[in-house]
Amino acid sequence: MNDTSRPAVLAHRLGVVRGGAPVLKELEFSVPRGTVTGLLGPSGCGKTTLMRAVVGAQARVTGRLEVLGERAGSAALRHRLGYLTQAPSVYLDLTTTQNLDYWAAVLGVGRADRSEHVRSVLADVDLTEHAGALAGRLSSGQRARVSLAVALLGAPELLVLDEPTVGLDPVLRRSLWDLFHRLAAERGATLLISSHVMDEADRCDRLMLMREGRVLAEGTPGELRARTGTDSVEHAFLHLVEADRRARTP
Ligand SMILES: Nc1ncnc2c1ncn2[C@@H]1O[C@H](COP(=O)(O)OP(=O)(O)OP(=O)(O)O)[C@@H](O)[C@H]1O
Ligand SMILES: [Mg+2]
Repeated sequence: MNDTSRPAVLAHRLGVVRGGAPVLKELEFSVPRGTVTGLLGPSGCGKTTLMRAVVGAQARVTGRLEVLGERAGSAALRHRLGYLTQAPSVYLDLTTTQNLDYWAAVLGVGRADRSEHVRSVLADVDLTEHAGALAGRLSSGQRARVSLAVALLGAPELLVLDEPTVGLDPVLRRSLWDLFHRLAAERGATLLISSHVMDEADRCDRLMLMREGRVLAEGTPGELRARTGTDSVEHAFLHLVEADRRARTP
């Protein structure tokens, strides 16, 4: 099923238990297609767990979680998703191009198209100059971009990127955010991007603000500022945390 009128991700009473404790608690949210949606919240609030559930890599998921019209984790989604994990997984003894070539082959990109496809994703992440370098000799930011390039292989409909810009310089961060918006605008891709820093919030079309395993609010940055009567997403977040605490204190 590929019904594009459905959101890219739709969660109803989504729960996850890790280490005996609930880590995601009855989440309700949706990620509209073709948007750059930011998943923001402090360290430990459950961003990575939520993303692992979306890509089907998380155990003990309860509730309903629909991804691109399919049940999360279903085999039909394998080629339609790209996932950048928080810990870059790159073979250090292979060159940049060899890493990409390997993963393109795993994904089933035909041999005839592979080198052109690899060249184009390397250009997307600004690594053309380092195509022949051993991954083990790249800087950490360059290596993070090799992982990002792997997630872009196969032109997936949904990209789930766990803190893709952490540790990168401001110029590179900006160019990656431009790339994310290009992918949404030109290919209709949906991007779910986590960050624990609020200064990237305004680069997103939509936001989901998380705290302690719950979604406090979702909407555009403008909607969240207006709803809370604040002038920045950071202040909106603080306002929502305070309102939530009051609502939950008997
Ligand atoms: N393997 C695990 N076993 C048990 N609990 C875990 C495990 N991994 C994470 N947790 C717990 O789940 C909660 C959410 O973790 P998660 O990694 O999803 O947070 P996060 O928002 O991605 O944080 P960060 O911004 O630091 O990456 C945390 O309280 C953490 O302690
Ligand atoms: Mg995380």
